[in-house]
Amino acid sequence: MVVVGGGECGARAAFALREAGWNGPLTLVGAEAVPPYERPPLSKSMMTGPHASAPATICDAEMLRNGGIDFIAGTTATDIDRDNHEVVLAHGRRIAYRRLLVATGATARPLPIPGAAADGVRYLRSHSDALALRDRLRPGARIGVIGGGFIGLELAASATLRGCAVTVVELAPRLMSRGTTPQIAAVVAARHERAGVDVRCGTGVARLERRDGATLLGLTTGETLLCDTVVAGIGAVPETALAHKAGLAVDNGVRVDTRLTTSDPDVFAAGDCCSWPHPLYGGRRIRLESWRNARDQGGAAARNMLGADEPFATVPWFWSDQYDLTLHIAGLPDAATTEVVRRRHDGVEIRFGLGPDGRLLTASAIGTESAAARDIRLAELLIARRATPHPTTLADPTVSLKALLRQEPH
Ligand code: APR
Repeated sequence: MVVVGGGECGARAAFALREAGWNGPLTLVGAEAVPPYERPPLSKSMMTGPHASAPATICDAEMLRNGGIDFIAGTTATDIDRDNHEVVLAHGRRIAYRRLLVATGATARPLPIPGAAADGVRYLRSHSDALALRDRLRPGARIGVIGGGFIGLELAASATLRGCAVTVVELAPRLMSRGTTPQIAAVVAARHERAGVDVRCGTGVARLERRDGATLLGLTTGETLLCDTVVAGIGAVPETALAHKAGLAVDNGVRVDTRLTTSDPDVFAAGDCCSWPHPLYGGRRIRLESWRNARDQGGAAARNMLGADEPFATVPWFWSDQYDLTLHIAGLPDAATTEVVRRRHDGVEIRFGLGPDGRLLTASAIGTESAAARDIRLAELLIARRATPHPTTLADPTVSLKALLRQEPH
C-alpha cells in the first residue's frame, strides 16, 4: 500500500490502513520535509499564540515507526507507472504498489496578476508559509489581505489581534460568499469592522508595485493602498498534476466514484485533491477543501483500498475561528432554497437550509466556541438521515433537535 501526500488525508489513511488490518508494507510519501501536521492552526493559533516553531503534528516519527509506516519526507512523486504498478519519486526511486492513494491536496490559488510573486505577495498554505508570515505581523504593520474567504478572514483576525492595521479586499459583493449565508457573512463583517479592520467588498486588485520596501496595491476602485505585507487567500486549486500525467480522469480534482476509486481500480484519491459524486446531494460531483473531509475521506479510502466497498456520504462540515467567534457549517448551503431560523432562548441562532423537496440540506451558526456545536452536530445527523422536518417545528426552539432526530428512521 502506498499513499502519496503527507497531509491530513494521507496521514489519516496510512494509520487507517493499519487499523483496518493491513499488515504488509506501507509507504507514505510527503513533499514537505516535516512529519504530517495540522493546517487549521496555521492561520489561527500559530499566528497569535506563544510562538513555538514546530508545527502541530498529526503524528511524529515515533508514531509512524510504531505504525510500521515507511515515511519518505521531502520527496515528490513525479509519476505513476500504472502498467507496472509503481510510483516514481523525484530522485528516480520506484516503489511498487498493489493499491495506491493519491492524497496530494491543494495549493493556494495564485493571484492572477503578472509579477505578483515578484512583488512580494504571500500565501498561507504550509507551515513554512506561516512561519514567514508570522514574523511580519508586527504591531502597526500594514497588512493587505486579498480575499475575504476563510483563510483571508482568519488571517485578518489574527493580524488584528497582533496589533496590525489590516485591510481586506474582497472581489465579491460580500464576505465568504462561497460557503456561508449572507446573514452570517454580515455578522462576520461587523465583527471585523468592530476590531478595526477595513473591509472592502466588491473590490479587486488591478495592479501591484514595489515601493520603498512596501507594496502598493492599485484597487479596481481607483484607490491605492500601501502595505508592508500583502497576503492573498483567494481559494485553492486541487493538486492534480500527478494524476493527470498518469492518465487518470480529472474533473475539478482527481475524478473518483463514491468508493473514492479513480478511473484505475487500483488507484484511489481522497481529500482536497479529488471530486466525487455526493450521494446526499443528488450525486452532484463536489470537491471539498476541509479538514474534516480530508480526515474522513482518508479513512474511507484506506478501508476501500482493502476491499471494504464503503460509499463515502459523510455530511460536509466546516468551521472557522475569528476573534471570539466560531462559525460552524454542516452540509452544503448552495442547494438550499428555503431558509428557516431557530432563535434559541439564549440568543443563539441556528440557520437551516431546506431543498425544494423539503429536505434539510444545511445548518450553520455563529457564536462563541461551544454555543452551537451540539445543535450543528444534531443537524448533521438529521441531514445524513435525509430528514424533512416541518419548517415550523424546525424554527421552534422548544422542540429539541434531538427529539426531531428520534422521529427519523435510521
Ligand atoms: N481579489 C479579491 N478577492 C478575490 C479574488 C481577487 N482577485 N479572487 C477571489 N477572491 C475572493 C473570493 O470571492 C472568495 O471570497 O477570495 C475568497 C476566497 O475564499 P475561499 O474560496 O474560501 O478560499 P480561501 O479562503 O483561500 O481558503 C482556501 O483553505 O483552509 C481552507 O477552508 C479553506 O477551503 C479553503 C481553502
